[in-house]
Amino acid sequence: MNLKYQMDLDDDYNDLFVDRQERRVRKQKGKHSPKKTQAEIVQSLAEPDALEGEGKYVTTYQPSKYEATWLLQSLSDFYRQEFITDVLAMVRGGKEASVYRCAARPGLGTDLLAAKVYRPRQFRQLRNDKMYREGRAILTADGKEAKETDHRLMRAIGKKSDFGVQVEHTSWLMYEFNTLKTLHAIGAAVPKPYAVAENAILMDYIGDTEMAGPTLSTVELQRDEARELFAETMRNVELMLVHGMIHGDLSAYNILYWEGKITLIDFPQVSSSYANSQSHFILKRDIERVCSYFASKGVKAAQNPDDITRRLWKRYVELDAESRAADLSRLEYRREENEYDD
Ligand SMILES: Nc1ncnc2c1ncn2[C@@H]1O[C@H](COP(=O)(O)OP(=O)(O)O)[C@@H](O)[C@H]1O
Ligand SMILES: [Mg+2]
Repeated sequence: MNLKYQMDLDDDYNDLFVDRQERRVRKQKGKHSPKKTQAEIVQSLAEPDALEGEGKYVTTYQPSKYEATWLLQSLSDFYRQEFITDVLAMVRGGKEASVYRCAARPGLGTDLLAAKVYRPRQFRQLRNDKMYREGRAILTADGKEAKETDHRLMRAIGKKSDFGVQVEHTSWLMYEFNTLKTLHAIGAAVPKPYAVAENAILMDYIGDTEMAGPTLSTVELQRDEARELFAETMRNVELMLVHGMIHGDLSAYNILYWEGKITLIDFPQVSSSYANSQSHFILKRDIERVCSYFASKGVKAAQNPDDITRRLWKRYVELDAESRAADLSRLEYRREENEYDD
């Protein structure tokens, strides 16, 4: 691989696909490894044979050479199923996923869609996601729970074989897709999901043709608006709790702001409030992060995250199923009272 060319690649994709540091270390150690190096994997991805979609699909956005293969492979299902007709721009390249602004097929009811393309699983940061997976079944590509009695599957996961790693990757992505589906159906402020493929999720795009909605972390809110949006954020946290879910990575970085409205995003680590033994810690941290942002915008009701956590925990997690169902109807009522008012 031509190093000079690599260096010209845009930064996100540069560190996404080619970890030069790691290659250097491996080389120095001279260690024999039966596994392919990242560079070899990138190379094989860029082989012409692997280019299933390239040339066939229009992209106004010009991906770099190494990005192109992965991008078009990941989105080929969405082109084929006629959800999208073009990739217009990269909204953001991240460590775990990159998000692209796409043109929707005419008649779909929206002009733009966001495609979240997960980075190749080989390169995904092996971040500590064990805490979130506890108490969650494995989801297969059809979005259904795998059976604990599927010994082949469970063994592969335990052994971390290629197949096992792929199964975990699929499950991670399917949790994000299923959560968006569930939350959208019950009226949460999340993007509507349209389709899912092996490596990508297609959903409502927040923003316009020029720019994507910024994350709340970069928005300067006036106190009145901040108060309203805090209450709206907490309505979503409660709505999730009613259904046994905790976001797990909630903060002003995973809330988008556009035309006065907020949208919660980024759900692969969604955790079960009942089945996860760490759920209190996870909920507490979500609420602390949300409160810290809103308190800095002058929202008094956000000054006591511990009180809020205690209240919500008692209300939603310590309850039995029956009271939980009753709580769903009370949620609407409380919303009118607005307990998050200063
Ligand atoms: N539906 C969307 N519409 C517009 N921009 C989005 C959308 N989803 C994600 N983004 C942008 O892409 C970034 C990364 O998406 P996110 O789901 O948070 O993945 P991660 O943080 O794991 O990389 C977000 O911070 C946001 O800027
Ligand atoms: Mg994020």
